[in-house]
Amino acid sequence: MAEKKGTILTGHRPTGPRHIGHLVGTLEQWAKMQDDYDCYFLIADLHVLTTDYSNTDRIQKNITDVMTDWLAADLDPARATFVRQSALFEHAQLSTLFGMLTTVSRLERMPTYKELIQELKLKPSAGTLTYPVLQSADILVYKADTVPVGEDQLPHIELTREIARRFNNTYGETFPEPEGLLSKSARLPGVDNRTMHASYGNTIQLMDSPEETTKKVMKMYTDPNRIHADDPGTVEGNPVFEYHDVFNPNKDEVDDFKARYREGKIGDVEVKKRLAEALNEYLKKHRERREELATDPKKVIKVLDDGTDSARPLVQATLKEVQEKMGLQ
Ligand code: TRP
Repeated sequence: MAEKKGTILTGHRPTGPRHIGHLVGTLEQWAKMQDDYDCYFLIADLHVLTTDYSNTDRIQKNITDVMTDWLAADLDPARATFVRQSALFEHAQLSTLFGMLTTVSRLERMPTYKELIQELKLKPSAGTLTYPVLQSADILVYKADTVPVGEDQLPHIELTREIARRFNNTYGETFPEPEGLLSKSARLPGVDNRTMHASYGNTIQLMDSPEETTKKVMKMYTDPNRIHADDPGTVEGNPVFEYHDVFNPNKDEVDDFKARYREGKIGDVEVKKRLAEALNEYLKKHRERREELATDPKKVIKVLDDGTDSARPLVQATLKEVQEKMGLQ
């Protein structure tokens, strides 16, 4: 087998089924990297509890939904390893040890933490504060050197690098300083032009039917100043056109729509109808695969549990090395 470029660890919190923003920005990128890197894809179920420890009814269902979307998006157990965070105690154990190397004030300065308490008015638990320490353990327990993430996660990668450096300086060279890898495609807005987020109810889910998808597209936010189809419209920052740019493979058609939209020579309805068609075409393969996988959820979960078992020797070896170096063995 050809020499791999390195080791990737990345993952999602299992908060529910994935949406098109996940597929186009993230999952497609991950799928492409499977041949070039040793890939570990993490279901970060412990991290779910950092913001809400009481609503646990849906965790297992959400894990199944995320795994189903991942496999449908061509993340492939023959080429990558899937891991259930809570089932490998080494993640939590390494997080405890890394916690010793991290000051509380450093964690209180994390922008993600500040945002959680300011914007969501969340009363933080100790688990909320140490979220990024657990994430550092997730990455370094595999000695991963490459971490594909969204921009909001970069401060967590920076902390991971600091922890790796501090550990290496104190106890001897052990961990790589991992690099964050940003996805190339821009962030796709939600159908209401806010950030796409399940809690805003503005996503197009990968499990939505073609009819549901069309309905959402037809109601999509567009140029709010355009009342009549013959008013000149704005294309820039208009999510309908941002989506066309991403999902409509017919670039000439998109250019023609934009030109006519600016001149007030095409209605929103026509532009949206074509977008719905293009989007449904784009989602076709994912939907077919998803539907088939969803007939056997046990098989989907077995992929996760088999992956977790196969990762165990590696994380055990890292933890043993860490404990020896820290004078615990
Ligand atoms: N914090 C990440 C998110 O919310 C999820 C995550 C947990 C993760 N552990 C990770 C991502 C390790 C990359 C590497 O999206």
